[in-house]
Order: sequence, then C-alpha cells, then structure tokens
Amino acid sequence: MILVTGGAGFIGANFVLDWLALHDEPVINLDKLTYAGNPETLSSLQGDARHRFVQGDIGDSALVSRLMTEYRPRAVVHFAAESHVDRSIHGAEDFIQTNILGTFRLLEAVRTHWSALPASHKADFRFLHVSTDEVYGSLAPGAPAFNETHAYEPNSPYSASKAASDHLVRAWHHTHGLPVLTTNCSNNYGPFHFPEKLIPLMIVNALAGKPLPVYGDGMQVRDWLYVKDHCSAIRRVLEAGRVGETYNVGGWNEKPNIEIVHTICALLDDLRPRADGASYTTQITHVKDRPGHDRRYAIDARKLEAELGWKPAETFETGIRKTVQWYLEHGDWVAHVQSGAYRQWITSHYEAA
Ligand code: NAD
Ligand code: DAU
Repeated sequence: MILVTGGAGFIGANFVLDWLALHDEPVINLDKLTYAGNPETLSSLQGDARHRFVQGDIGDSALVSRLMTEYRPRAVVHFAAESHVDRSIHGAEDFIQTNILGTFRLLEAVRTHWSALPASHKADFRFLHVSTDEVYGSLAPGAPAFNETHAYEPNSPYSASKAASDHLVRAWHHTHGLPVLTTNCSNNYGPFHFPEKLIPLMIVNALAGKPLPVYGDGMQVRDWLYVKDHCSAIRRVLEAGRVGETYNVGGWNEKPNIEIVHTICALLDDLRPRADGASYTTQITHVKDRPGHDRRYAIDARKLEAELGWKPAETFETGIRKTVQWYLEHGDWVAHVQSGAYRQWITSHYEAA
C-alpha cells in the first residue's frame, strides 16, 4: 500500500480517487483537515476497504511512526501543505509549521522506519515530494521556461516554505540515502478546486453575480495543467523516476490571468447565460495587486517527457471546458465548502483590495 498526505485537498484527493480507480493497491490517507481539506470530496470512497482515512498532522511524529509501522507502505506521496499564496502574505506561521517543520518531521519519521527495512525493501521504497514551480521565482517575458537546473528564487512566504521543504527532501537523500523523488508542477485546475484560487473563484463568483477580482493589470502569466494530468505525472514518476531526481511538470499552457477570466466568462455565457442577457465579462473588476506578485511562470517539462514518456492528455481548451461543466454540475459541493471560515477569509482579504 501507499501512504498519501494531504489526500483530502484539491490535488491529493484527485490523486487518491484516480489511484483507486486504476489500481487495487490500498491508500492510507493522512490529512489534518484544515480549511482546505474536504472529506466530502472523498465521499465516493465511503465503505471502500482500499481507502483508510486518518485525520492527523504530518508534524505528529508519533502518529506517522505508528502508521508506518502498522501499514508498512511501500511509498509515501507527500501533498500536505498550506498552499495559498495570498494566505501566506496575511500570515506565514502555518506555512512554516506545515511546509517546513511538518515536512521535516515527516521525513524523520519515514527515515526511521525506512532505515530498519530489509535491504531489498529499502531499495524499493520511495518518498515522493509534491512541489511547485513557484520555488524558481518569476520569469521575464520571453525568458526560457524553468528547467530542473534553474536557480531557486522563491518570492512569497508560500514559495519560500516550499523551497525549504524541497531542500530538506534533497538533503535527506544525499545525507541519509532516503530514496526520494521531487516533482515541481505548474498551476493546476479542475474538479474539487477550493474556490479561493483563481479559476474556481471566478466560476463561483460569476454564477453568484459577484465581482470577478483581477489583481493589478491581469497580465501575470501562469502555466496551467489539468489536475488529472498532474496526477498521471506523479504516478509515472513514482513508478519509474530516478531516485534523487526532480521532475518539472507542466502543461505548455502559458496564459495571462485576464485571458483565463475571459475564457471562463465565454464558457459560462454559452453554458449558463445570465438571465439579463449580459456577458459575465461585465463582472470583471481590477483590484489592488498581490504584494510581490510573480509576473510569469513557465515550465519546461521535457525531462519528464524524454525520460519517462509523460505528456498531458488535456489541452487548456478541453480541460477548462470540463472544469466549468464540473462546477455547473456540483453546486452542492461548492455550497458545502463555503463554510463560515471560508466566508471570513473572502471578506477580510477582498475588503482590503
Ligand atoms: P490544498 O490546499 O487544496 O490541500 C492541502 C491539503 O493538505 C488539505 O487537505 C489540508 O487539510 C492538508 N494539510 C494541511 N496541513 C496539513 C498537516 N499539517 N498535516 C496533514 N495534512 C495537512 O493544496 P493542493 O492545491 O491540493 O496542493 C497539494 C500540494 O501540491 C501542495 O504541496 C502544493 O504545494 C503542491 N502544488 C500545488 C499546485 C496547485 O496549483 N494547486 C501546483 C503545484 C504544486
Ligand atoms: O504555480 C503553482 C502554484 O499555483 C501552486 O504552488 C500554489 O499552491 C497554487 O495556489 C498556485 O499559486 P498561484 O498564486 O499562481 O495561484 P492563484 O490561483 O492564487 O492565482 C493565480 C493567478 O491569478 C495569480 O497571478 C494571482 C491571480 N489572482 C488570483 C486570485 C485568487 C487574481 O488575479 N485574482 C484572485 O482573486
């Protein structure tokens, strides 16, 4: 079996759902259930003996050690993190605690277990660390996309905390020999995405008749990847990645934010036209920019393609249409995540904008 951390969040839950749709290998899912963790996303696994959900903190060494001893997973896939850049600007403490200290404690608990394994099991064990392209910093227009040798230049408290975790993972391999793999992925989108992030926020706000808050001039560029393609890349790296290597994962879909928002509006105009006949674009509002806002990210995913034969299955056009349709069909899921804590965040963050 494998142990997944953060498997009630956006990418982790998609990974667990896809994993169990493709394999019978069981999953232990360790998730603290912060505001971003949503057990409802996993409701289709209720009663499925292959999925064991454990509510807990990756920083709880005793708990992680107990899970490792009890279940003896062959691999750990580490998604758990604080993941929202804007929240890290308002308060970085949780990011330091989970992304840095939590990853350190997880690595130590896993290493202790791994060190005591028989030689053949030791060699086959994997710790796959799921990271981000934001560790590389911001690209000038026209500069080549990030490859795996690009210098680390994180600019936000979030990306600095993820960069620190990447360094810890690297060091646990070089110093202790732990068989690690790291993936650095671009912006994901798709089903079950928490509506604090650009794409789900725009869909949800548009349907609610609310403003669509574009930071600054909206010309910041991100490289978008459909979440299921990220999950397939992680499965492939887990299966065949070279120990100690890092792999960049991206969709070759560089788009300015304002174009993304216009695309969402056009899809909604087509699929769920406003009652007054006006376009959803009339709801677009430019608001104060994010402090230290990275201007451009772009991923060079050629290493993953050349070494492991991975390619995304979705184009941005197919992926964004599926995503908008998913949100139109899952109003209940959206309503349920919009808890008191979520509403409070939206009010305090956008009131200041
Ligand atoms: P998310 O915020 O949706 O989910 C994070 C999950 O981790 C939640 O279920 C939360 O409850 C859990 N968690 C948080 N702190 C925990 C702790 N201390 N112990 C156990 N569980 C804890 O995040 P996501 O968007 O699914 O991202 C998952 C991972 O992928 C993160 O490591 C993130 O840095 C990375 N990543 C995300 C993107 C993206 O576009 N979303 C892109 C590249 C990499
Ligand atoms: O690049 C990978 C990263 O992508 C992941 O590591 C992060 O966990 C994930 O949150 C994401 O970070 P971003 O900051 O790029 O994503 P976000 O959805 O918050 O913002 C995308 C872009 O849209 C960014 O340029 C900021 C802008 N934006 C965002 C929000 C929430 C707006 O213009 N308005 C908004 O209201």
